[in-house]
Amino acid sequence: MKELSLHMLDITQNSIRAKAKLVKLVIIESAENNEITTIIEDDGCGIPADRLQKITDPFVTTRTTRKVGLGLSLFKAAAEACGGYFEISSTVGVGTKVVANFRRDHIDCAPVGNMADTILTMVMSFGETDLYYQHDYNNQQFVFNTREIKETLEVESLNEPEILNWIREHVKEGLEEIMEEKIYGKVLSRTKSDSRKEIERT
Ligand SMILES: Nc1ncnc2c1ncn2[C@@H]1O[C@H](COP(=O)(O)OP(=O)(O)O)[C@@H](O)[C@H]1O
Ligand SMILES: [Mg+2]
Repeated sequence: MKELSLHMLDITQNSIRAKAKLVKLVIIESAENNEITTIIEDDGCGIPADRLQKITDPFVTTRTTRKVGLGLSLFKAAAEACGGYFEISSTVGVGTKVVANFRRDHIDCAPVGNMADTILTMVMSFGETDLYYQHDYNNQQFVFNTREIKETLEVESLNEPEILNWIREHVKEGLEEIMEEKIYGKVLSRTKSDSRKEIERT
């Protein structure tokens, strides 16, 4: 059973290959609706309409190194196997959006997985591309935005050991906070100066 985070990491790599400048990853977990929805949206090259229809067929790929494209078809199969749905939409020159929905209590529904490590891996592998990550957990929300962090720190790249360490802890703590059941209805939004102070402390 594959963790959802591994699927998401794989899908964002398509966006990187499509030369996206910004990748948006939104995860919505709702106990009330018994759903997990993941949305991955990019501003990359897009997919022509005639290819889009066939794109979740495991034999469709534009790669030349191997003939079978699997990322999208595996993610679609995972969603559908646990009573959810999968949608992909794309416009050439605008970008691509992939939505996967899962029944949270379905016996085959994989856990979301370790998002702190996944976000770290994305930041390290994205190069110039920015990441906007939003995670809604019941009524609480955590947002992580590399553009904002670069602005705050006045740096071009986050690929520095001390920044990467801070990112991992920041995401880990932020997620722990929204998943903490005691704090109800409070929306977590860290200000720029909060991030600044925390980084200076490390
Ligand atoms: N975000 C995207 N932007 C542009 N093209 C994409 C995107 N995602 C997928 N594609 C196209 O769909 C094909 C299949 O993707 P995927 O199922 O992940 O398999 P693979 O990445 O192994 O080719 C890719 O080769 C690419 O041509
Ligand atoms: Mg792929």
